[in-house]
Amino acid sequence: MSEKSSKIPKVILVGAGPGDPDLMTLKAVKALKKAHVVLYDALVNESVLDHAPNALKVFVGKRKGMHSYSQDQINDLLVKYAREYGSVVRLKGGDPFVFGRGKEETDYIESFGIKTAIIPGITSAIAVPAAIGIPVTHRKFTESFWVITGTTSSREISSDIHLAATSNATVVVLMGMSKLAEIVEIYKQNHRHETPIAVIQNGTKDEEMSGVGSIETIEAIVAEKKLASPAIIIIGEVVRGHESMLTYFTEAFIEDDFIYQNLDITP
Ligand SMILES: C[S@@+](CC[C@H](N)C(=O)[O-])C[C@H]1O[C@@H](n2cnc3c(N)ncnc32)[C@H](O)[C@@H]1O
Repeated sequence: MSEKSSKIPKVILVGAGPGDPDLMTLKAVKALKKAHVVLYDALVNESVLDHAPNALKVFVGKRKGMHSYSQDQINDLLVKYAREYGSVVRLKGGDPFVFGRGKEETDYIESFGIKTAIIPGITSAIAVPAAIGIPVTHRKFTESFWVITGTTSSREISSDIHLAATSNATVVVLMGMSKLAEIVEIYKQNHRHETPIAVIQNGTKDEEMSGVGSIETIEAIVAEKKLASPAIIIIGEVVRGHESMLTYFTEAFIEDDFIYQNLDITP
């Protein structure tokens, strides 16, 4: 690449996946390798930044005790870095277009005549339940799944949760931990006390924790296990049976010893 073409401003919106650094796409890795600047959020596993050894890395997420950037400031930084350095990767947790403000950012950047591209990521909405053996669909139980934000821009609970609670749909709630009591209440109003529900914190990461119960019991389980954000709440019949033999894949899984150990049988 010539010096001139490498300085052409462009921003690539990249999904970093749900947390496990191996759950990132090959395209994302290729984009990171060529990036001059990477702007990343708190949900991004920092180890994936190793794919961008030569890039300037800028943290723009929210962390306790650290200065946090407003969305307007992030938008301006993206434009500034693209103009100064050329290729900017905007790295976001999960998929940038699932509650990720991805479109707001690309619209803003493009209004300055700067080209944008997207590399979709694996969203936590599907991958985090899957990692503990919960499929978002199952032919026996559900014909759809809804992914709902627990906290709308007006900080209120989404009215979609009221609608979803009247259906057989699998309901996946993101950013919903501060609204768990309200969600439970809505399901109770719909006589759904026995409906299975799981809360999974830091899914697919080493520090993953989860609690599984029913609408009736989940608040006590969450309190006992001290589960907190970032967490996914998943509600519906698909949660039943999550304790099957299905396990989250690690490289050790293909080693025979690992499988025999877990099945408690000797070859
Ligand atoms: C602003 S949304 C971003 C979602 C992201 N774009 C995606 O597709 O996964 C942040 C919320 O996603 C959920 N989340 C993201 N990663 C998670 C993980 N590894 N474990 C549990 N929840 C996660 C949490 O509900 C968190 O509050």
